[in-house]
Amino acid sequence: MLELRSLCKKFQTSTGNGRMALNNVTLSLQPNDFVTIIGSNGAGKSTLLNVIAGVFPADSGQIVIDGEDVTSLPEHRRASLMGRVFQDPMQGTAGSMSIEENMAMAYKRGMRRGLSKGVSVKHRDFFREKLATLGLGLEDRLQEPVKLLSGGQRQALALLMATLSRPKLLLLDEHTAALDPRTAQEIQELTNEIAGRGNLAVLMVTHNLRLALSVGTRTIMMHEGEIVLDVSDPERSEMTVSDLLKRFHDARGEQLSDDRILLEV
Ligand SMILES: Nc1ncnc2c1ncn2[C@@H]1O[C@H](COP(=O)(O)OP(=O)(O)OP(=O)(O)O)[C@@H](O)[C@H]1O
Ligand SMILES: [Mg+2]
Repeated sequence: MLELRSLCKKFQTSTGNGRMALNNVTLSLQPNDFVTIIGSNGAGKSTLLNVIAGVFPADSGQIVIDGEDVTSLPEHRRASLMGRVFQDPMQGTAGSMSIEENMAMAYKRGMRRGLSKGVSVKHRDFFREKLATLGLGLEDRLQEPVKLLSGGQRQALALLMATLSRPKLLLLDEHTAALDPRTAQEIQELTNEIAGRGNLAVLMVTHNLRLALSVGTRTIMMHEGEIVLDVSDPERSEMTVSDLLKRFHDARGEQLSDDRILLEV
């Protein structure tokens, strides 16, 4: 489903040597894999998702999604293959546009005919039906601007939009981190439900180690641009957070340093 082969990405620094944000990352995902990604600050987690999405090119290596080599494709040409949700609820949706206009943009993402804000009656019914599945009453607010929604409602909409055009891959970068605990849990449950429908590989970055072990099917840990740990169920399902921290310590000879690490749910 997703094949990453020896991906490297270096950022320039003022001191001249550059910083290796991705160092020879190789990863293979099956169609229904739900992978949680953890790791210290600056480990390269967001860079990994950005390079997959084509926000910036990899320096070397190869990215294959669903059999298609996308390594040299620009971001907009990869858009139909994947959905993304970011930490900031403001980032995934356009506040001044209505709910249905946002959904129309998401639906048409990656289509050749280009983007338009127009919403047909047929699409409106489809969007209403999809929104109803969220159970937030948004199906009755189709023409309201998105800026009137709460952070949680907006993130639920972003998640729905990210999967509207049935992508093969869903990239989530701390997508519940800016929400209050209850809303974060609701958005996480929605995420699990979407992933559970199948035919979708998910990469989800989180700082909550307990959550990382309890959702999905596999957990990878990154450190200094490398994947230092990769555990799948059933081995993973037996692991505790302390096991995880110990495995990190054993592999790197140091403690995991993460200023936002969350051990409790
Ligand atoms: N656009 C950029 N320009 C320069 N350096 C960057 C850029 N994006 C990331 N970096 C650097 O690359 C390294 C990896 O950053 P990245 O954002 O991928 O870390 P992360 O694992 O997502 O960390 P965090 O948990 O803090 O979000 C860091 O040293 C960071 O400073
Ligand atoms: Mg990050």
